[in-house]
Amino acid sequence: MTARSSLTVVLAAGEGTRMRSHQPKVLHPVAGQSLLAHVLEASPQGTGAALAVVIGPNHDAVADEVRRLRPDAATFVQRERLGTAHAVLAAREAIARGADDLLVAFGDTPLISAGTFEQMRAPLKRGATLAVLGFRAADPTGYGRLLVDGGHLLAIREHADASREERKITLCNAGVMAFDGKKALEILDKIGKANSKSEYYLVDAVAIVRDMGLEAVVIETSEDEVRGINTKAQLAEAESVMQGRLRKAALDAGVTLIAPETVYLAADTKFGNDVTIEPFVVIGPGVSIADGAVIHSFSHIVQARIGRNASVGPYARLRAGTSLGDGAKIGNFVETKAATLEAGVKVNHLAYIGDAHVGANTNIGAGTITCNYDGFGKYKTTIGQGAFIGTNSSLVAPVNIGNGAYIGSGSVITKDVPDDALAVERSPQNNREGGAKRFREMKTRDKAPKGK
Ligand code: UD1
Ligand code: MG
Repeated sequence: MTARSSLTVVLAAGEGTRMRSHQPKVLHPVAGQSLLAHVLEASPQGTGAALAVVIGPNHDAVADEVRRLRPDAATFVQRERLGTAHAVLAAREAIARGADDLLVAFGDTPLISAGTFEQMRAPLKRGATLAVLGFRAADPTGYGRLLVDGGHLLAIREHADASREERKITLCNAGVMAFDGKKALEILDKIGKANSKSEYYLVDAVAIVRDMGLEAVVIETSEDEVRGINTKAQLAEAESVMQGRLRKAALDAGVTLIAPETVYLAADTKFGNDVTIEPFVVIGPGVSIADGAVIHSFSHIVQARIGRNASVGPYARLRAGTSLGDGAKIGNFVETKAATLEAGVKVNHLAYIGDAHVGANTNIGAGTITCNYDGFGKYKTTIGQGAFIGTNSSLVAPVNIGNGAYIGSGSVITKDVPDDALAVERSPQNNREGGAKRFREMKTRDKAPKGK
C-alpha cells in the first residue's frame, strides 16, 4: 500500500499583540528555536508531505524563517484577519491539490509532537472525515468546548458563544485538525460567520461534517502538548515544559546531569556517550558534545562542537563557530569565537581566542588575547601545532605563529613567527641595585612629621 499524502497548513498570521514585542509572535524562541520551528519540525516530513504556512502581511521575517527551515514549503499571506477558517483558506491553492490528509495546526503551539500528528491521521485512514485534537483543560476559560455524544464529536462551541452548561465542559479544542483532504475545500467553503465575533471559525467544520452525514472524532492529548502561547508568561511556561522534556531525554540517553533542573538545553543539542554536565550550565542552539566530554559549572555554550573527552569550564564561554578537538581543555574565564582548537589544545585560564585556528597540542597561557578587531575589520590568527604562547601575550591579527614556536610572556606579537622560533617582544629589564631601599628611605623622610 502506498503511503497517504498530506498537506499541513500552519496558521501563523497572528499579530501576537499580547506579547508586547516588535517581533512576530511565532518567532519568539523556546529552547533556542522559534515557536514556528518546533511546529514545523513536528509536522509530517518527507516524500508526500507538503507544507503551507499562512503568515500576516509585512511578516517577511516569518517567511524567511519558513524558507530557512523548510525550503519546500509554500507561504500564503492572509491580508485581513477574518478568523481561523479564513486563514486556512488563504492556502486554498495548496489545499485544492487534494492531498489525502489535510492537517491544520497553529504556529504558536510549540510543544506538539510528531506522534500526535500521526495519531490524528489514523481515523482518516479508517474513513472518518475530520479528527480534532482535544485536551482536558485545568481552566477551560477561553477555549472552544468539544460537544460529544458517546464517541462522536457533534460540534465545537467557542467560549464566547457557549451556554452556562456548555462552559462546564473541560474537554477543549487544541486547535489541530485533520481533514479528509478530498473533502476539505467543500467543508471549509461552507463555513460562515454566524458567531458573536463575526469571524470565519474553523471549529464550525465539525457541525458541517455532521450535517453532511460524515464522521468527526476526537483524539485526546495532554494539556502540556497543546499550550498555545499568547503572552510572555505562557512563553516562559512552555520553556519550562520543554526544558523538562529535553533534560529527561538527555538523561534517558545516558548524559550525566548532576542537577538537571539547573541545566538549560536547546532543542537541537547533541550528546555522545558518557557526557557529564555539571550544575548551572546554559547550552544554546547548535551545540554538539562528543563522548566523554565534561562541561563544568557556569559555562555558556552556543553553536559549538566539543570533541571527545574535552573539558570546558568552569566559567567558560564558547561562542558561535567554536570547534574543540578531542581532549582539548578550556578553563575558567576563557572566551572563544569562530575558533578551531585542534586535539589536545589547552587554554586553561583567562583568555580570548577569536577568529583563530590553533594546531594540536598547543598550550595557550593565561591572559592571552587574539586581537582580532581594529574597529573596522576582523582578522585571523593562525597558530601551529605544539606551540607555546606565554602568559599575557597579545597576538595582533592577522598573524601566523608557526609549529613549535614559543612566545615569551607579555609579548605583543605583530609579525609572523616562523616554526620553532622563540619570539620575545618586551623592553629589557633594568635592575637597579639597592634602588628599592633608597626609594623607601626617601618616602619615609618626606612623610616624617615636620617639627618647628
Ligand atoms: C482557537 C480556537 C479554539 C481553541 C483555541 C486553542 C477557533 C475559532 N478557535 O481559539 O476553539 O480552543 O484556538 O488554542 O479556531 N489566526 C490567523 N488568522 C486569523 C485568526 C487566527 O492566522 O484570522 C491564527 C493565529 O495566529 C493563531 C491561530 O490562528 O495561531 C488561532 O487563533 P487565536 O486567535 O489564537 O484563536 P483562539 O481564540 O485562541
Ligand atoms: Mg490562541
